[in-house]
Formats: sequence, C-alpha cells, structure tokens
Amino acid sequence: MNQHSTDQALVPPPSAATTRRAADWWRDAVIYQVYPRSFADSDGDGTGDLEGIRRRLPYLRDLGVDAVWLSPFYASPQADGGYDVADYRAVDSMYGTLLDADAVIRDAHAVGLRIIVDLVPNHSSDQHEWFRRAVAEGPGSPLRDRYHFRAGKGESGELPPNDWESIFGGPAWTRLADGDWYLHLFAPEQPDLNWEHPAVADEFRSILRFWLDMGVDGFRIDVAHGLVKAEGLPDLGGGDQLKLLGNDVMPFFDQDGVHAIYRSWRTVLDEYDGERIFVAEAWTPTVERTANYVRPDELHQAFNFQYLSTAWNAEELRAAIDRSLDAMRPVGAPTTWVLSNHDVTRHATRYANPPGLGTQIRTAGDRELGLRRARAATLLMLALPGSAYIYQGEELGLPDVTDLPDEVRQDPSFFRAQGQDGFRDGCRVPIPWTRTGASYGFGEGGSWLPQPDSWGELSVEAQTGQEGSTLELYRTALAVRRAQAGLGAGDSVTWRDDVPAGLLHFERPGFACTVNTTGTAVRIPAPGTVLLASDPVTVEDGQIELPADRTVWWRTD
Ligand code: GLC
Ligand code: MG
Repeated sequence: MNQHSTDQALVPPPSAATTRRAADWWRDAVIYQVYPRSFADSDGDGTGDLEGIRRRLPYLRDLGVDAVWLSPFYASPQADGGYDVADYRAVDSMYGTLLDADAVIRDAHAVGLRIIVDLVPNHSSDQHEWFRRAVAEGPGSPLRDRYHFRAGKGESGELPPNDWESIFGGPAWTRLADGDWYLHLFAPEQPDLNWEHPAVADEFRSILRFWLDMGVDGFRIDVAHGLVKAEGLPDLGGGDQLKLLGNDVMPFFDQDGVHAIYRSWRTVLDEYDGERIFVAEAWTPTVERTANYVRPDELHQAFNFQYLSTAWNAEELRAAIDRSLDAMRPVGAPTTWVLSNHDVTRHATRYANPPGLGTQIRTAGDRELGLRRARAATLLMLALPGSAYIYQGEELGLPDVTDLPDEVRQDPSFFRAQGQDGFRDGCRVPIPWTRTGASYGFGEGGSWLPQPDSWGELSVEAQTGQEGSTLELYRTALAVRRAQAGLGAGDSVTWRDDVPAGLLHFERPGFACTVNTTGTAVRIPAPGTVLLASDPVTVEDGQIELPADRTVWWRTD
C-alpha cells in the first residue's frame, strides 16, 4: 500500500520566469484575480494598495499563475468598491498614484506575469465630470445625452420612466431635484452611460489606448452585456428581472448591439504589440449566447458563469462542461473556468451548503466538507481545457465570512435590498499573510473589514511548506499544469462512461482525471500512477480507494 503524498520531484523549481511570449498564451492561462482593497496594504491605512500588490508579485509568480487581473483601482468615491469610476485615467489616492500603477505593470512583467485591468464601460460614477456637468446644466442640456435622462411618467412626472429594477434592488431610476430621472442598472451612484452617443464610444477607445500605452496586457470588461439598451427602453412587464442566468433576453442585457462595440475595440487592441486580450463579464441566458462575445473579431474570453453556478454533482458538472466546450468550439475561443470571484460566495462555502442556494450564501455550512469539495473542484477545473481564473484567497482555502456584523458591511446591494441581498463583503475580507500580527500581515494597521480570529492558521505563512495545505496543493497543481504538456490545451475531453455513478473520469494522451463527487468512498481500478490528489488517496494492487469528494490526476503513459 502506498499513501500518496505530494511528490516534489514532479514539480519544477520556480523559475525566474520570463513572460511567456508564445502565441495564444491566454488560451490556457491561469489568471489570478486581485481585489486591490483586500490584497495587501503597504501604508497601514487598513486598505490594500498598489504598492502592496507590487511587493507581493513574487508570491504570485511562485504560485505559478500566468497573469493577474486587478479589480478597479481608479479614482472613485467607492460607492460600489471602485466599480463606480470618477476618472478612468487616474488612480484613487487610497491605492496610490499612476506611478505606482506603472511600477506594478513593470515589475509584473519583470517576473513574467501579465497584467489585466478592469474596464467599467456600462456606467460611470455620479461624481464623474460628465455626470456632474450634465446634472448642473439642467433638463434639456445636450450633456445629458451621454447618459439616459428621461422625464417621468404620471401627471407630474412622479413615476419612473419604465419598470426596470436595479440589480442592487429598488427602481433602476433616480429622480433629480429638477424633475428629470436618470437610469442606473446598479446603484444610484452608477449612472448608465448612453452608448448610442458618439462621445461615449470615442472616450472609451481613448481610455483603452491610455492603459495599453501604460503597458497592460488586457482588460476585463465589467458588465459587458449591459452597454446597449433596447430601443425606446421598453417596459419589462413583470418577469424575474434579477435572475441573471436562464432568462429570456432582457431589454437592458445582452442586446445584439453590444457586439459592434467589441468589434471596434478589437481593432484598437490589435494595433498594439504582444497578444493583449479582453475578457468579458457577460451574464447571458445561456453559454451559447456567451459564445457570441468571443467570436474571432470580438473579445478573447468570457467568464463561464454557468459552470460557476453548477452544483457539486458529477452529472451536472459533466453536462455543464460539455455544453461549455460545445458552445465555444464553433467560434474557436477557449472556455474559461471560474469558481470564485469578488461577487459570489467563495466556493469553499458554496459547497459547504446544500445546493440550490444560489451564489449569495449567508450560512457557513459544513466547513470541512466545503473545503474538501473546493479542493477537488479546483483540481477538476485546472485539468479542463481552456483558461482558469483564481480569486485571491481561494488558494488558502478561505471560506466566506458569513457573520460580518451589519455595521461593517459596505456592499451597496445590502442596503438597497434592506439586507435581503448583498453579501458580497463576505468574499472581500482582506487575506491573511502571516500567522500573527496586525491584520495577519495584510498591513501594519487594521483591515477595512474584520478578519475572523481563525485566519492566522489559514495564512500564507502557516500554509507554506505545510504538506497537505491548500496553498501547497495549488502550487503543485499549477506547477504540474505547466510542466505537463497539454493540461489546459485543446477544446474537448474524452469521458469514460464505465465509471460508477457520481464519478467523473476523463482522459487525454498521457493524462487522466477522476473525480468522486459522492459522499462515499468508491473502489475502482487505478488507470495509472497518481500525479496529484486533492486529498490523500490509497492505491493498492492496482485498485484505488477514492474517498468522498476527491479528485485525482493520473499519469497514464
Ligand atoms: C460587476 C462587478 C460588480 C459590480 C457590478 C457593477 O458585476 O463585478 O462587482 O458591482 O459589475 O459595476
Ligand atoms: Mg493602504
């Protein structure tokens, strides 16, 4: 009998990586999302910043990711964690300066990492100069045409222009003192831009160039599905407005007109050297409609939210994987896989709870179960063809913080929906770097959201070199993924059907991946030698005892 443990010999030493220049680097890239406010705080003010990120770049290089996506760090009143941008070409003083942004980009490149920045084109902040001037100039001003200003309905215009609701709760319209209403699909501090107006299109092409000239390797496009609204802003007339997946097409989301915008952006991007990319945050009814965003002359990738929303269940996972791969194949784009981000409950906590609770969960659930499944889910994700996204802290196995007191919460939807929704703060708690010390090494001071007492043991320091830790599992998995040619390549998987119910097993030349999603151990023939397992497994006489909620990578040649 041999108890499998991480075999260091399989892992190439962390190299002084050079940026992979290979064409199509992004097709199988592993991209790490940094939420700047919560990653590392260099000046002790309780808020993460660009210099904090710069100092931690070696950590990200050693983790083994290819690129880093930075959530917004632009000048912003922070009504929605920076997704309310007041100046698209300036860095918020709480994060640093443009020089700090330049230093992050340069240093990242020097250690072989690419940098992707967030672009927020659907709406600006209400403190953006354009909106402030539009408000100041009053009804009828042409400056109001850059947003969606309308007169209200009712005898004295006291009713909103249509029945749309904000994603964060309440009406999608706010009335100004002068009587006009303006549209905001998110918070009132985030007025929607009018993409029919040529100045809006010109301005964003210029913003793209600004950051491309700074040297960024790509953009994550916020609410990429929202820019174009149906002609005449028609009423929805009932229906479930807030369900983002599985809907009919909405008059404010996924309108066919958005694609002309992305085709025009692509021509800008392609003028620049290197292979720079766009990744869309596009919530569409189906993955087939998501594929429209990544046609050859549009964007490169789109987050696969259907996969993120799939329960820990072999049959459902297989169906979601097949459907995603099938949808992307005709347009020639890689599939992306993502389990956590700054908008959803961390997957270690989603899987700790019964399925069907959605992506905003308020209960801690069974932590041990959640972590075991999360580790298994990550190994499955990293073995699939395409690109994978990792959200800061998931490599530490962090759970969501489900018991934040109401008075520290900042998610705007928590307030707009009277506490019925808006639990995104739970995945935004600053991450622990050290076992002890102020904010567990996040910074010299406190942290803008309180960290649970138990987080010292989950810190980078506590997990580094610790056999079996989640951090070492991620490091090994990413190293194997790099070393093992073909992991992440291609556009299909070959499933084996002769496995017990609740198991997934797929193969590609020299490699196989087995997942047990059931709550009980299963004994099956070992298809090769164990390359990596999400938690210990035992192999004996050519048979493997695969415990509950476990993924194994095999070498089969
Ligand atoms: C995206 C962001 C989210 C933000 C929203 C409005 O969904 O990921 O954090 O609240 O857009 O900008
Ligand atoms: Mg700071």
